[in-house]
Amino acid sequence: MQTIQKETELPFEEYIMNNKWQGRSIDVKSYWQFHAKSLENFEEFWASVAKELEWFKPWDKVLDASNPPFYKWFVGGRLNLSYLAVDRHVKTWRKNKLAIEWEGEPVDDAGYPTDRRKLTYYDLFREVNRVACMLKCNFGIKKGDRITLYLPMIPELPITMLAAWRIGAITNVVFSGFSADALAERINDSQSRIVITADGFWRRGKVVRLKEVVDQALEKASGVEHVIVYPRLGLKDTPMTEGRDYLWTKVMQGIKPNVYIEPEPVESEHPSFILYTSGTTGKPKGIVHDTGGWAVHVYATMKWVFDIRDDDVYWCTADIGWVTGHSYVVLGPLLMGATNIIYEGAPDYPQPDRWWSIIERYGVTIFYTSPTAIRMFMRYGEEWPRRHDLSTLRIIHSVGEPINPEAWRWAYRVLGGEKVAFGSTWWMTETGGIVISHAPGLYLVPMKPGTNGPPLPGFEVDVVDDSGKPVPPGVRGYLVIKRPWPGMLHGIWGDPERYIKTYWSRFPGMFYAGDYAIKDQDGYIWVLGRADEVIKVAGHRLGTYELESTLVGHKAVAEAAVVGVPDPVKGEVPIAFVVLKQGVAPSEELRKELREHVRKTIGPIAEPAQIFFVTKLPKTRSGKIMRRLLKAVATGAPLGDVTTLEDETSVEEAKKAYQELRAEVEKA
Ligand code: WTA
Repeated sequence: MQTIQKETELPFEEYIMNNKWQGRSIDVKSYWQFHAKSLENFEEFWASVAKELEWFKPWDKVLDASNPPFYKWFVGGRLNLSYLAVDRHVKTWRKNKLAIEWEGEPVDDAGYPTDRRKLTYYDLFREVNRVACMLKCNFGIKKGDRITLYLPMIPELPITMLAAWRIGAITNVVFSGFSADALAERINDSQSRIVITADGFWRRGKVVRLKEVVDQALEKASGVEHVIVYPRLGLKDTPMTEGRDYLWTKVMQGIKPNVYIEPEPVESEHPSFILYTSGTTGKPKGIVHDTGGWAVHVYATMKWVFDIRDDDVYWCTADIGWVTGHSYVVLGPLLMGATNIIYEGAPDYPQPDRWWSIIERYGVTIFYTSPTAIRMFMRYGEEWPRRHDLSTLRIIHSVGEPINPEAWRWAYRVLGGEKVAFGSTWWMTETGGIVISHAPGLYLVPMKPGTNGPPLPGFEVDVVDDSGKPVPPGVRGYLVIKRPWPGMLHGIWGDPERYIKTYWSRFPGMFYAGDYAIKDQDGYIWVLGRADEVIKVAGHRLGTYELESTLVGHKAVAEAAVVGVPDPVKGEVPIAFVVLKQGVAPSEELRKELREHVRKTIGPIAEPAQIFFVTKLPKTRSGKIMRRLLKAVATGAPLGDVTTLEDETSVEEAKKAYQELRAEVEKA
């Protein structure tokens, strides 16, 4: 945090001006003018962006703000995402342009990928229609039905999403790294009629058997009529339940290769997807997004932030199971008719130059990735990227967590050859698309290592204090968005009260993001991290309550408190303080068992880095766990105000447990 503070205080001249970038020069003044104008004629501005998409029926009203915070965008308009992402291009010269370049994880002895697929826009069009037919004709899926997709990074995932949107179905994509319980919860909450999965996939040279997780989940979930299994690996022993489970390839055999399914002209506010994300309670929230507003937001940011052109090769490394994958692997690049790279496996398999070999192989020009990945590759060393020609890159952006200036500088120099535009785009599942970022597609502004940059046009963003008043430059406050925006969430699935309470109650009339931020003297925003009980592990969002309730779900555990602590690669990792039930003795085995329990229940990303056994947790007199103190213990930070603490020995005990374990780790 200190380095960030230092960086924000530098004058503009000290920053990388990059004024040679593609022969264009820095123009901060024009940018801010453009921004101011966009807010002056706010609705007109967004309407002018929306007009660039094709609507089956134009909207009657740009923004309906009559019932805040239930805002509606492009009311009366009708459109279809599948049509926009596919049909529109096959009517042009892009028909035979590559839409998807897919690479599976396995490589041969020479390190050459053995599993590759190339799909043109026309291929995609045909496949999307066939899968839409499968959903509609074979399984009776209708507009508004929810379908759960639990798939690895294979072309069938975007194809099925587009097919679902074609017929007005609502997708619920669950990250393939989540475990059975997390999947069951998401299937249940979304009331999905079908689940689409694969037999398995490759990860780090090992087979992950996905269908088996679905079977476990379905023991706890109800309402699922059918499971469709795509044979990614062609495993012979995948368990199939007669009458419920169908092999994708068998069903598809019966569907004509040139079948055409009319794209359903859905209302702009019709939900396109639900995506579950962690919040400050044990139960994940089903964030709902509409169709028209989301499409407009994603389209605009593809142009402004990624500056996409027809000869670009675009690669966003995010998994489609997260929002970045929804907006910027599936919808965004396909809306633009871009060539899109999708890679199945681990970034450093079989060697730490896998990603760099991909950039070289396809001549990637636009690269969207995460700070965690950059930090991991920094550790491996620059000799790995140096082995490959990365000179095609012209834009790099990162997302998901703050990027430390050191990582920014490394990537700028080693990956970008000091000639790319490179920013850290801030947004969240709830925003649907990028909100704060420099926008090389519009005007070049100076890049500052570690910043998110100015808010995008059409977005009114601020940093406020506890009373909702803007803080002066350089002072930490809460990040808020002061007006509705097109890609905004349309509530939480089945829980309108929680929607109002979580986002719109803290500061009336403003969207509360839950992040700490500062605004610098140039109007740039620097998001510092979460202000609530959410942590970001390798950019993945995890609620500490979710981990705590999982730990308490174990028979040996009476109470648990989880906090995030800084990690040099992953940004943050969770650690847990655990109170065992009476009569249960702490042991190394139990520690292992609890970690395994979290892995199995939520997924590998949630596994606590450390577990400390204590006999009590620090609490306020009213019984609230003071996680802040535990975090201080683990980071060696000052405890701060402890007047509300009920029993001071609890902190001493946590300290002791922490020091003992550290001593053990150091000894080992
Ligand atoms: C964090 C990911 C700093 C932030 C798209 C936010 C960031 C949360 C950045 C949302 C960034 C995302 N700089 N922090 N460039 N991008 N965040 O829902 O804390 O997985 O609230 O969406 O990630 O995470 P989510």
